[in-house]
Amino acid sequence: MDKALRKEILQTRRLSRNWPAEPLLGGYYTDEEIDVVVKTIRESMDPTVGFGFICKEITDFEQAFAAYCGTADAVSINGAGTGIDMALMALDLQPEDEVIVPTLNFRAALVAVLGQNARLVVCDVDPVTLQADPNDVERRITPRTRAIFPVHMNGLSAPIDDYLEIAERHPHPKYGPPKVIGDAARALGGGYKGTKIGKRGWMTVFSFHTQKNMTTLGEGGAITTDDLEAAKRLRALRQFGGSDGWGSNYKMTKVQAAVGLVQLRKLDSFIAARRKVAQERTEMLKDVEGLTLPVEPPDCYHTYYLYTCLVPKEWAGEKRDRLMAMLREEYGVNTVVANPPVHRVVPFVAKHTQGQETPVADELGARLFCPPTHPLMTREENEYICAAIADAMERLREGV
Ligand SMILES: Cc1ncc(COP(=O)(O)O)c(C=O)c1O
Repeated sequence: MDKALRKEILQTRRLSRNWPAEPLLGGYYTDEEIDVVVKTIRESMDPTVGFGFICKEITDFEQAFAAYCGTADAVSINGAGTGIDMALMALDLQPEDEVIVPTLNFRAALVAVLGQNARLVVCDVDPVTLQADPNDVERRITPRTRAIFPVHMNGLSAPIDDYLEIAERHPHPKYGPPKVIGDAARALGGGYKGTKIGKRGWMTVFSFHTQKNMTTLGEGGAITTDDLEAAKRLRALRQFGGSDGWGSNYKMTKVQAAVGLVQLRKLDSFIAARRKVAQERTEMLKDVEGLTLPVEPPDCYHTYYLYTCLVPKEWAGEKRDRLMAMLREEYGVNTVVANPPVHRVVPFVAKHTQGQETPVADELGARLFCPPTHPLMTREENEYICAAIADAMERLREGV
């Protein structure tokens, strides 16, 4: 985008919505979701029917979700946070057991490892993809490692095959290769080496929270797996432990499942729209001096849940923060740091990871920022956001 066009856009336009940096509804709803909610309520109002979990909606949703991800099974749950807990519970972790989690992440997986009273080993990230760095994972793996828990950061697949190979090379003496569990809360609909995210690894946890790629009325999630024994364990954990062992209530509701079936049919169109926004944005921002844009490795299909930008190294920290403040205050463009290294910013996690160093994540956490993106964002709004970023960066470079 040349300077004249940028100035014209900034003078003549404003965003039609005050887009939150991470919009509060990730996809969108139409009458189809409303109708299916009403229909499901009407059908459940009979005292001989009710909203019980053992119902066609849940079974159909789980089957459709597994088919979408290409897995043998999918277990519906009430959110990815509990799904992450459940995946770890299925390992029966002991206090000496270690789980490796990238620190440039949402906090859920790190907190969950501590919640299971296991040892949290944080790992560093790849500076280009922002995913858990396989070389660093291999440096931190020990005979006590039970699992590697990468996040599919901001909608891009992590290199799951690399972690699987590392796990094979470093089997636990009792349990064999550490399990690879994916946190795909932000990455539903993405792809990796010709398969959907969720296919590879032992289990993958998804979120249908209101901000995610597909949503089920605010909360919701699913775990995919090809391991049918593991799926059985998850179902027991979800429903008070089944016949043998501990469990609680982590179930999705019937109405959520009905909505999930509709949203799942729309998911690919949501992702296509996100990709269009991202491609147009990359085209418009590619010549902005000092700005690093998100990459899509050749074997990946990015969902662009977030569009992650990096300021130059010299701008890390204070100048990045000034850019974000300028964008908000002077251009009306909200941005978010998604995410800084969890073990640096969450005291509870910091306390349990003292002495663990992640120089790349530390630096990226001080350089990254994410402008808003959404399937409903128009080209005009995207142009305004790009013009604002280019303009604010130029002013910061030139000190005006
Ligand atoms: C990467 C990641 N993992 C886990 C979660 C937790 O998901 P949920 O809100 O469904 O519990 C979120 C966000 O909410 C997330 O972004």
